[in-house]
Amino acid sequence: MTELPALPPFPASRPRRLRRTAALRRLTGEISVRPADLVLPMFVAETAAEPRPVASMPGVVQHSLDSLAKAAIAAVEAGVGGLMLYGIPAHKDPTGSGGDDPDGILNRALARLKFELGDATVLMGDLCLDEFTDHGHCGVLATDGSIDNDATLQRYASMALAQAEAGADLLGTSGMMDGQVGVIRRALDGIGRSDVGVLAYAPKYASAFYGPFREAVDSSLTGDRLTYQQDPARGVREALAEVALDVAEGADLVMVKPALPYLDILTAVAAASPVPVAAYQVSGEYAMVEAAAERGWIDRERVLLETLLSIRRAGASLILTYWAHEAALLLQQ
Ligand code: PBG
Repeated sequence: MTELPALPPFPASRPRRLRRTAALRRLTGEISVRPADLVLPMFVAETAAEPRPVASMPGVVQHSLDSLAKAAIAAVEAGVGGLMLYGIPAHKDPTGSGGDDPDGILNRALARLKFELGDATVLMGDLCLDEFTDHGHCGVLATDGSIDNDATLQRYASMALAQAEAGADLLGTSGMMDGQVGVIRRALDGIGRSDVGVLAYAPKYASAFYGPFREAVDSSLTGDRLTYQQDPARGVREALAEVALDVAEGADLVMVKPALPYLDILTAVAAASPVPVAAYQVSGEYAMVEAAAERGWIDRERVLLETLLSIRRAGASLILTYWAHEAALLLQQ
């Protein structure tokens, strides 16, 4: 009787077996990023005659209406799933009147892109006052200088109607006022626009990672947003409560913001949310990678794709990222 050969002195299970070839790795990969999962945030400035670079966000510009249309069409042709628009008005005032003016830059831009692209993409408008107010806050101020939550809701309702009229498919409620989703939902339904959806920015943290965005929208903010955006020291419990409120008020999607520093929150929200979950890879996340890459310290393309994969792995269905167009092209290869 022949003896069986002795088992090798190491485990039979060898995880490296499935890493041996590109084909094996491709077959066993579990997480993917599709161009259609990506949403490109874009800036349009009323006073821009041509694209103006945003210094702290290399590759990002404040568009004119014409350059916006051209860039939006190119991004959609590259397979990007949606566009989120931010408007920078020529004049700001205490109530942010440019936000609900049909001739305001954001509403004109939405109308222009609706005209150019129709239903070929998902068109989103930022529904917040901070780009339009001279004090830079996301709401209107009470006489003591605090943010007047309920007066702000009236302004948001009016902005919602203007953006719906201009052609937005989804309204991005980034202002963090209590009750904003419900007020906007009722305003839309009240004029028969139950077809327009709400992308609720919840949870949204008072993050220093928004720094470069302030330059991108010529923000006039001098203080901070600590009384309305969430405290980074609060955990999953509050995040889930914010999500539950927004869903109860009628949110069609919820979004975690920022993304990379809040992947724990994203995973918890993705597990609990009954509606699709987005994540916003914000300006500071983008700027950090661009700055390190500029110095030759990291491999830019690999890092940007890895960050997107991380955000998908944590549970996001869709990702807002300033790399959306470029990543869509890289992912097609
Ligand atoms: C508010 C808004 C901000 C961002 C998106 N919407 C700024 C803020 O909350 O201070 C930041 C996005 C980014 O940093 O990329 N309208």
